[in-house]
Amino acid sequence: MNSPPESPTSPLAVLRDDVRALHAYAVQPAAGLVKLDVMENPFPLPAALQAELGQRLGAVALNRYPAERTEGLRTALARHARLPAGGALMLGNGSDELISLLTQAIAKPGACVMSPLPSFVMYAMSAQLLGVRFVGVPCRADDFQLDREAMLAAIAAEKPALLWLAYPNNPTGTLWDTATLDALVDAMAPHGLVVMDEAYQPFAANDSLHRLRQPHVLVMRTMSKFGLAGVRIGYLMGDAALVAEVEKLRPPFNVSVLNTEAALFALEHEAEYARQAAQIRAQRERLFTALQALPGVTPFPSQANMVLARFPDAAATFALLKAKGILVKNVSAMHPMLTNCLRLTVGTPDETSQLIQALT
Ligand SMILES: Cc1ncc(COP(=O)(O)O)c(C=O)c1O
Repeated sequence: MNSPPESPTSPLAVLRDDVRALHAYAVQPAAGLVKLDVMENPFPLPAALQAELGQRLGAVALNRYPAERTEGLRTALARHARLPAGGALMLGNGSDELISLLTQAIAKPGACVMSPLPSFVMYAMSAQLLGVRFVGVPCRADDFQLDREAMLAAIAAEKPALLWLAYPNNPTGTLWDTATLDALVDAMAPHGLVVMDEAYQPFAANDSLHRLRQPHVLVMRTMSKFGLAGVRIGYLMGDAALVAEVEKLRPPFNVSVLNTEAALFALEHEAEYARQAAQIRAQRERLFTALQALPGVTPFPSQANMVLARFPDAAATFALLKAKGILVKNVSAMHPMLTNCLRLTVGTPDETSQLIQALT
């Protein structure tokens, strides 16, 4: 932590010390590089659809606050996700915003939130910003699966208000073992919430919608990995009474009319996005097999649009790929268990060929 130079007359002096000690979320510069670092869908919208979307966005009433169209998007997403009857859905400006709102919602004095580690960094970050204690429970080192006994013991000891389970997990791509999940979800009932964060659901063989039968479970998804990372739409589904409480924290008009229209348009063309997801899943398997064949490289099974792999020297491989025009993410410093690991986002067939060739 850097302690900033302090002058009592500086306007910065009124800011929270913990905020000033934070590092801003870093986005790696990617101009001119094959971008395989942040799990974006690599496929652009086909030209005909781009033109059609342009017309639609041009006709949006930018002079008005978001209103009925946002309600239309909630309905369209509920249908798309097959939200069970009796459930409710709320919208966030990306699921990052929902993570922050849920953390605010449970931020009673003494409350804690929990997640396995390594996992998505925003769970701990949101907790830190809101003064909520974060408890991370290390995964099993050999396969990045949940450590069932350690998780159950931590739940019993800490009684977390909220358990974050990214399913599949980021940055490992792991789909948690079902029996372990059943046990954790039961252990959290009835007073703790479980959020199944399904950001990578379009690429996974399993989902958690059936868990919404239990009122302490919420399912969160996003349109980012589906193909609209730039549009910023996340959504939270769960018991109507619970979702209605979290809704109270949502800033009014948090989703713009342009985001709403672009998301509605994408849902009208969901078959196109389903085709893209199928291609990404096929490329993931191709990349995984190629990584397995590389001497000294260990890829971990993934159900997301990324593959985590351990290299003999991740920093050197990262630099080599960058020199060849390919940007990936070196996650080595994120957690001791990730030493020498790179997270490779799955690209188009051509990008996958380039990546495999560069690594070979
Ligand atoms: C597990 C997980 N949840 C949520 C998010 C945030 O997604 P969004 O773009 O909707 O804010 C990410 C982004 O990488 C993620 O990996």
